[in-house]
Amino acid sequence: MEYNLDMTRIPRHVAIIMDGNGRWAKERGQIRLQGHLAGMEALCGIVRHSSDIGVEYLTVYAFSTENWKRPADEVSGIFKLLIKFVKRELDELNRNNVRIDILGDWSIIPEDSADSIRLALATTEKNDGLKLNIALNYGGRAEITRAVNMLIDSGKKNVTEEDISACLYTAGMPDPDVIIRTSGESRLSNFLIWQSAYSEIVLTPVYWPDFTPSEYERCLAEYQSRDRRFGGHK
Ligand code: IPE
Ligand code: IPE
Ligand code: MG
Repeated sequence: MEYNLDMTRIPRHVAIIMDGNGRWAKERGQIRLQGHLAGMEALCGIVRHSSDIGVEYLTVYAFSTENWKRPADEVSGIFKLLIKFVKRELDELNRNNVRIDILGDWSIIPEDSADSIRLALATTEKNDGLKLNIALNYGGRAEITRAVNMLIDSGKKNVTEEDISACLYTAGMPDPDVIIRTSGESRLSNFLIWQSAYSEIVLTPVYWPDFTPSEYERCLAEYQSRDRRFGGHK
């Protein structure tokens, strides 16, 4: 592709805030769900490309703990799309050795969507290629609160940063090297607020449905141009 990626420095963990589906649809005079559908197509391309370039972990923000504030038909439409995604893509994802994981409390999502998730997790659990984390009913504050309660329940009197990390949905994973947000917004919206302490943030004005592998590579090249210091210096 046109952006010269250094293939020896591909980030291990890429996280994406897939934003702008609604505005994409509005610009076309379509309903918001059309935007979410187009967003799902974009996701398929980015998952494939992540596998191709050797990303180890891809974490995508699909539905936040705050997104329940949206109209009921939009919320149910999004969960229906999840079923469609699994039905249509699971075979290929499995063939490509992708392992699917869910970050967030999916115990309260609609039952038919939960069935699809169970199938996706069971089908891909032994795969050792790209780890695709779908953040679903995910919120960073809820995640940290849950971790604190797990530690209280365990009877711990002294808690370390490692203890907290080990109780997050991302336990055992490296922190995201880069968080990409589409659609021109510059906020985290409660995404990975603990894990993003030293993540590079890359913003693009492109709406999520228009986010192509080429734009993805441009964002990764921008990430590769950053000087990560982690509080130290050379
Ligand atoms: C992101 O697109 C998808 C979800 C939050 C589920 P939006 O639906 O937030 O699109 P905009 O931000 O309204 O354009
Ligand atoms: C963040 O986008 C959540 C997802 C992409 C799933 P939102 O559109 O919900 O975020 P805000 O409301 O603009 O901060
Ligand atoms: Mg949005």
